[in-house]
Amino acid sequence: MSQVRVDSTADGSGAPNEAGELRGRTVVLIGGGSGIGLRVAHRVVAAGGRVVLGGRTAARLTAAAAELGDGARWQTVDTGDTASLAAFFDGIERVDHLFTTAASYQVGPMRELSAADAASPFESKFWGQYHAIRLAAPKLAADGSVVLMSGAASARPAGLAPAYVACNAAIEGLGRGLAVELAPVRVNVVSPGTVDGHLWSNRPDLARAAAFDQYRRDTLLGRPATEDEIAHSVVYLFTNTFTTGSTLYPDGGYTLR
Ligand SMILES: NC(=O)c1ccc[n+]([C@@H]2O[C@H](COP(=O)([O-])OP(=O)(O)OC[C@H]3O[C@@H](n4cnc5c(N)ncnc54)[C@H](OP(=O)(O)O)[C@@H]3O)[C@@H](O)[C@H]2O)c1
Repeated sequence: MSQVRVDSTADGSGAPNEAGELRGRTVVLIGGGSGIGLRVAHRVVAAGGRVVLGGRTAARLTAAAAELGDGARWQTVDTGDTASLAAFFDGIERVDHLFTTAASYQVGPMRELSAADAASPFESKFWGQYHAIRLAAPKLAADGSVVLMSGAASARPAGLAPAYVACNAAIEGLGRGLAVELAPVRVNVVSPGTVDGHLWSNRPDLARAAAFDQYRRDTLLGRPATEDEIAHSVVYLFTNTFTTGSTLYPDGGYTLR
């Protein structure tokens, strides 16, 4: 019986070398000027990769790139504007991995939100990522990957926000559909629980304290995540060469309680 030896390490040595998968790779992080995307950028640059940061605010991107050093460059882009996304990807020769945290939306009960606010998670988070991937697709390396950003509210709604819950569930379905269409490019989804980081630091103190207290009660590990814990999951999805069509829930067990 013949044996097949599979060596997926970057240097062919057979030694575990997760970082080697990112050495010399170009990772595009739209929303990477802050929060989870910026933590992913730090991990990629530390592993010898290059990052292209996208976002709407030049000052934020300049500061983030300065933090990261030579491995980082940036360009402004608005994921709500397909012409802006097209110009962004025109400036990039090759995309090895793509992750888009960029999104701006309103959440709330169906009975209270205006139609436009209720549609905003789909408009920004769902279609923003869809068009980013569509415009990146011609540049995606065949052995590369896309990670979509969802949220564990897809599986366990937190508070009253049905359109936001549905948007995240749709993103997880989009990940499975695109994994089929874009193969051998791998497409996966990260679906975090509540994260103690940049996004929540911009929300009112009382709302943040209430959300974090609730999360401590509702999750098995008794605390919100750090941004770097979510970045770790994203880098895993970039670098695991046999994972596609999956949704990973770094949520501290939130969906089990
Ligand atoms: N943090 C959490 O607790 C949590 C939990 C689950 C899921 N998520 C998901 O994570 C994503 C947010 O990431 P984050 O937590 O790291 O927050 P963040 O720090 O606020 O990151 C969002 C980034 O996207 C950029 N951005 C926003 N709208 C954009 C647009 N239209 N075009 C281009 N860039 C845009 C922002 O910069 P500019 O404003 O300068 O453009 C910002 O740098 C959202 O999809 C959210 O649903 C977060």
